[in-house]
Amino acid sequence: MAETFPLIGRMSGVPELRARLAELSLELPCDESILAAPASPLAEPLEVAGLTIGNRWCIQPMEGWDGTKSGLPTEHTVRRWRRFGQSGAKLIWGGEAVAVRHDGRANPNQLLLAEWTAAALADLRAALVSAHRERFGNDDGLVVGLQLTHSGRFSRPNEKSRLEPLIAYHHPLLDARFGIPPDHPVLSDVQLRGYIDDYVKAAETAWNLGFDFVDLKHCHGYLGHELLSAYERDGDFGGSFENRTRFLREIVAGIRAEAPNLRIGVRLSAFDLLPFQPDPAQSDGTRLGPGIPVPADGALPYPAFGCDRLDPLAIDLKETARFLELLDALDIHLVNLSAGSPYYNPHLQRPAIYPPSDGYQPPEDPLVGCVRQIQATRELKARFPQHAIVGTAYSYLQDYLPQVAQAVVREGWVDLVGIGRMVLSYPDLPADCLERGELDKKRICRTFSDCTTAPRNGLRSGCYPLDEFYKRSEERRRLQQVKRGE
Ligand SMILES: Cc1cc2nc3c(=O)[nH]c(=O)nc-3n(C[C@H](O)[C@H](O)[C@H](O)COP(=O)(O)O)c2cc1C
Repeated sequence: MAETFPLIGRMSGVPELRARLAELSLELPCDESILAAPASPLAEPLEVAGLTIGNRWCIQPMEGWDGTKSGLPTEHTVRRWRRFGQSGAKLIWGGEAVAVRHDGRANPNQLLLAEWTAAALADLRAALVSAHRERFGNDDGLVVGLQLTHSGRFSRPNEKSRLEPLIAYHHPLLDARFGIPPDHPVLSDVQLRGYIDDYVKAAETAWNLGFDFVDLKHCHGYLGHELLSAYERDGDFGGSFENRTRFLREIVAGIRAEAPNLRIGVRLSAFDLLPFQPDPAQSDGTRLGPGIPVPADGALPYPAFGCDRLDPLAIDLKETARFLELLDALDIHLVNLSAGSPYYNPHLQRPAIYPPSDGYQPPEDPLVGCVRQIQATRELKARFPQHAIVGTAYSYLQDYLPQVAQAVVREGWVDLVGIGRMVLSYPDLPADCLERGELDKKRICRTFSDCTTAPRNGLRSGCYPLDEFYKRSEERRRLQQVKRGE
């Protein structure tokens, strides 16, 4: 039987959460009540890279798997971006992952930055900004970035069900997990240089479209992140730290030459650990077992970034700190810290009480997952006060998200608090906190993971349990059939 954990939504209040944190030996500050502006630390503006971010709430990039085959936004995409604008958060970190080239799309419905999509992406940004203006009367302090990506190992550009992996190296565990044969070609240095040009071109376009910054995505197992662990790769992009970060450095050099006024940010998986799988001894056709790590025998030293390579269930932030030093040297001070990957260790990346269909029952109280990311971020923030750091993995805190968010910002553990899944169920949570100091409990994300299960099964993402728009959709019926195994 999978272990069960206390449900946050059933807790009687902050004292019970604090007691649970103490029981788990987790250190996490949590205020007694939600503070409205101006008393809330989350209402404070922040200056970074010559930009003024109007408050400390950030909307994380949240993809909807709802673009057209040619990479254009649809009405679903526009609706989501408008809701980001109405949230009250003043930092919009990237909107969602946008591929810099077709073969790097994570799914056939991922947005693409190309000549034929540029005007539509400008409209998407404008829709977000005007929704913000309609709701708040102005767009002062609103900063909007665009997340640029190449999905590398996790590319599925043509068919939802067909992985077309573009790999930086053969991985001792992930190749087998995702069916990549030993003779599958590895991306050449020449190909990577071509991709660098694509990033630079995309960034230049983003600048022309009015985005305040681009995020050069280095997280979640996608190409930029995979290159950071290319310890065994030959050539210019593998081996030494210098080579493993060459992709980033060359993209940055190109952007500085072509769009010198464009700000750059980086979203980074600060640590990564072994892949997890449902315990086969506790799984059957109808039930996912609790997550257990895939045995690392024969895979040591294990190739992951921010991990003790000889003990790959332990975090090691030495190289992560070196990476943040490099960002400083590159004059990049917008940093968003995440962890792991949704494809092989989702409990690290997006702690949830109910797993997605390709996941496993939680191997730990998901609070442990939240605090693991928050503490790693705290450690890095203490070492790099010069970076404006966005923290991740707050949605599972549910009713207590604002009280924790304001406490960690006050204590200087992080500069901005990012919300991911919560923005799908309850987009204006930041505004409710800042204006009223109150939450609408009916809209709190309970981490059912339908927003991940849906796209894993070819459907659009969205909050199927709580957002009426998705709740009433035809796709919800299909999602329910999938969940029943039909
Ligand atoms: C449906 C869905 C879509 C996501 N899309 C992106 C994305 O496009 N880019 C990205 O960097 N992270 C993406 N993420 C990860 C989130 O930004 C965030 O890191 C994660 O959900 C954990 O934060 P939370 O606890 O607030 O949900 C996505 C997550 C979900 C559930």
